[in-house]
Amino acid sequence: MIVTSSPSQLAKDWAKGYTSQPNEYAYQIKDIEGQIPPDLQGTLFRNGPGLFEVGGESIGHVFDADGMLRVFRFQEGKIYFQNRYIRTEGYLKEQKANKILYRGFGTQRSGGWLANIFNTNLKNAANTNVVYWGGKLWAMWEGGFPHQLDPETLETIGIDDLEGLLNQETFSAHPRIIDHSFINFGVSGMSPQTLTIWELNKQRETIKSSSCPLDGFSLFHDFLVTPNYYIFIKHPFKLNPLPFLLGIKSLEQCLTFDDQNTAKIIIISRDSQQMEILETEAFFGFHHGNAWELNNKIYLTTICSDTFPQRENDKMELDKMSFEQPIFGQLWQITLDLSSKAVTREPLLERSCDFPSVHPAFVGQENRYLYLSVASQPTNKAPTQAIMKYDQSNGKYQIWSPGERSFAGEPVFVPRQGEVAEDNGYLLSVVYDASRHRSYLVILDAKNLNSPLAKCYLTHHLPQGFHGTWTPQNFLNGVSL
Ligand SMILES: [Fe+2]
Repeated sequence: MIVTSSPSQLAKDWAKGYTSQPNEYAYQIKDIEGQIPPDLQGTLFRNGPGLFEVGGESIGHVFDADGMLRVFRFQEGKIYFQNRYIRTEGYLKEQKANKILYRGFGTQRSGGWLANIFNTNLKNAANTNVVYWGGKLWAMWEGGFPHQLDPETLETIGIDDLEGLLNQETFSAHPRIIDHSFINFGVSGMSPQTLTIWELNKQRETIKSSSCPLDGFSLFHDFLVTPNYYIFIKHPFKLNPLPFLLGIKSLEQCLTFDDQNTAKIIIISRDSQQMEILETEAFFGFHHGNAWELNNKIYLTTICSDTFPQRENDKMELDKMSFEQPIFGQLWQITLDLSSKAVTREPLLERSCDFPSVHPAFVGQENRYLYLSVASQPTNKAPTQAIMKYDQSNGKYQIWSPGERSFAGEPVFVPRQGEVAEDNGYLLSVVYDASRHRSYLVILDAKNLNSPLAKCYLTHHLPQGFHGTWTPQNFLNGVSL
């Protein structure tokens, strides 16, 4: 029988997973259950929120917490952990002042509207993703430029405009890598906006870029790419910027989900940059799984919610979270018929889920397996507490659950060296165990999730994180394990 926590215990445990970790560590992990596969050689870079208060004052939203890297380096069956804050301008100034100086997505400066009026300079928290490409390590945040970091020391080198490529644009935290191209997008303006997409080669040279005007306001967090298309989903939002400009409300509180409108699916040719927009019922979702083309149709998987989880105020108060209303989405498949322009949607999973990923060689190709963080029970009213391997060919799945008081973060798929089979690799996920207030890295065999290959216990907790990536280099120069 699977034991589940009471709703109040679950909310308390979940909130505890967003406790600040002010310390910075660097050590070899010695407390290991199981065995680290010797062929697992490289680095898991992860990013996420680290500090939820400054000078005793709570920030308003986890999206605004300062970014902290969590890095796991593997060498010959040994593992080395390091965490380090990204020294953004906001982090340095707020730590020096010991108070909140910046507004954020859901954070206001204390002092009422007078302390916020006409202040549109949101803190670049550099907290959403971390990617190594073309010799550069970037901490990414979707509202601004990336921060470049030293992959060996994790020291912050500074804001990076990619040799002048970026001007007014943002640089999203969800790049896609396909056929050795690094593809990312940015948005400039408020309403209307301009969407810009760049393709960079391994030398970080721009091999393609395109810009498209967009009507109204869009909140793009993620996108999809296939061999011939970029695909963006414009969920129906309205933005009333006036209360934000006047300092009365946070940016988050000025957003309204418009369920009377439609979701627009924007399909842009990678070749001609021609744009086509198809429509479907209103829905919201932060993350997409994968997209592929077949017989003049595009298939895509995405996380769908009926609405955007809007809060009544700008207080964190995560322990008061009610899971009675779904706050995570469900997995859907959407089919875009490029001939008839028809859009069809089909639910694949009832349970709450997030952070879908595939084998990196299958980005833009028809994939069989999707890896996700999921609710431990088949319900859509729960946080993500388990890791799932979902088989899109038959709807069957495998689940690994760490226990009723633990929370499993994004699974990152690492292919076994030299192998191309879609599930021939490892799944790496950071688990927060509220019963011990500690975190560990779990290594699962993607072929069989039943029993972990290894659990690598940290000596402390890590706040629940967002995204990360794997690179085969371990950047362990001079470190002896
Ligand atoms: Fe994301």
